[in-house]
Amino acid sequence: MLIVLIYILVFRLTHTLTTTHTQSKPTMLSALRLTSKRSFSVAAVNPYKVAVLGAAGGIGQPLSLLLKLNHKVTDLRLYDIKNAKGVATDLSHIPTNSTVKGYTPDQPDALRDALKDTDVVLIPAGVPRKPGMTRDDLFNINAGIVSGLAQNIGEFAPQAAICVISNPVNSTVPIVAQELKKLGCYNPKKLFGVTTLDSIRASRFISEIKETDPTKEAVNVIGGHSGITIIPILSQQKEMPKTITKEQKDALIHRIQFGGDEVVKAKDGAGSATLSMAFAGAKFADAVMSGLNNEKDVIVSSFVDSPIFKDQGIDFFASKITLGPQGVQKIHEYGQLSPEENEMLEKCKETLKKNIEKGVNFVK
Ligand SMILES: NC(=O)c1ccc[n+]([C@@H]2O[C@H](COP(=O)([O-])OP(=O)(O)OC[C@H]3O[C@@H](n4cnc5c(N)ncnc54)[C@H](O)[C@@H]3O)[C@@H](O)[C@H]2O)c1
Ligand SMILES: *[C@@H]1O[C@H](CO)[C@@H](O)[C@H](O)[C@H]1NC(C)=O
Ligand SMILES: *[C@@H]1O[C@H](CO)[C@@H](O)[C@H](O)[C@H]1NC(C)=O
Repeated sequence: MLIVLIYILVFRLTHTLTTTHTQSKPTMLSALRLTSKRSFSVAAVNPYKVAVLGAAGGIGQPLSLLLKLNHKVTDLRLYDIKNAKGVATDLSHIPTNSTVKGYTPDQPDALRDALKDTDVVLIPAGVPRKPGMTRDDLFNINAGIVSGLAQNIGEFAPQAAICVISNPVNSTVPIVAQELKKLGCYNPKKLFGVTTLDSIRASRFISEIKETDPTKEAVNVIGGHSGITIIPILSQQKEMPKTITKEQKDALIHRIQFGGDEVVKAKDGAGSATLSMAFAGAKFADAVMSGLNNEKDVIVSSFVDSPIFKDQGIDFFASKITLGPQGVQKIHEYGQLSPEENEMLEKCKETLKKNIEKGVNFVK
């Protein structure tokens, strides 16, 4: 009897899952997510090992805190050239199940021990932008840091999903790919440029105009991860207020593209976005783990190795992706664009192509 009941339940669940559209029925989907999670709890629940490289920084610390609070993480490794043990000890007093350990280069094999057997690696290591600096100015310093870390990931954690936060993401992601290719362990399905901050800014800023709940707003943001390469596709928004003017729309696009500058300016020499970025990074890592756990319809935006413009020499592109047990499961088409958005896309592609080449040439 019980078995029959379970069968009926499972059938109805899978049936609903395949017929439910993610975006249109968020409440239903989250309810389903909970149920599907429970059905996995027979085995160990989401036992993911996660490493943060650059964990003692402005982003690294709050990101590590949010990961310590995530029940999908059981083993958290914090690596930094300084203070990683301090941050790890501090976080280790928080009463969640996961263990947290810090690693610094003064220990022999610190990176190996931090990376060994990890499922997810997040990289916020680097230097942040100062006022007047573009993300491009950061290139040479951060490219060197990321490249060194990528070699270690290739050696000690070739199976891990790698989430790159260090800027310029549009160049650091190709750098990681190139290093892994050299080591013969590049898996394009497991390399991600974290562009979630662009998406969450878009949700927040558009909700201020529409006067809606920002947690329910989603904007399809495609392209790259800096300035004009960030393309929020506002034409795909349903229910934009009829009263919104072209000026307001342009201002919104500009604010999404240059939101980082707002923070750099306000912090006035004390760094760039760290707290909102930590939230974005933790949200992205959570989605990656949900995918690994085979949850359904895990859709996020990310800058990935993408077929969309590969024939035009653009190997990486940000668009919506579905995450699964092997990493990227599906890369979504970006859909219909307005003439203005098509123009933005052309400019984006020109710049992106140069940035990617720059990353590739750095490693060559
Ligand atoms: N993807 C995004 O949307 C986004 C948003 C904001 C900032 N960022 C980028 O994230 C990076 C970090 O920013 P932050 O504000 O946290 O800077 P931060 O200077 O506060 O922290 C960086 C940390 O990296 C560490 N580090 C440096 N070299 C290292 C190495 N070789 N190995 C391990 N750790 C190393 C430093 O010790 C420091 O703790 C910057 O590149 C910044 O531009 C990205
Ligand atoms: C934490 O561990 C305990 C003991 O193993 C377990 O019963 C509990 O479900 C775990 N909690 C979470 C949220 O994983
Ligand atoms: C990518 O990175 C470079 C370096 O920051 C930057 O100049 C550029 O505007 C960014 N966007 C694109 C598409 O390159």
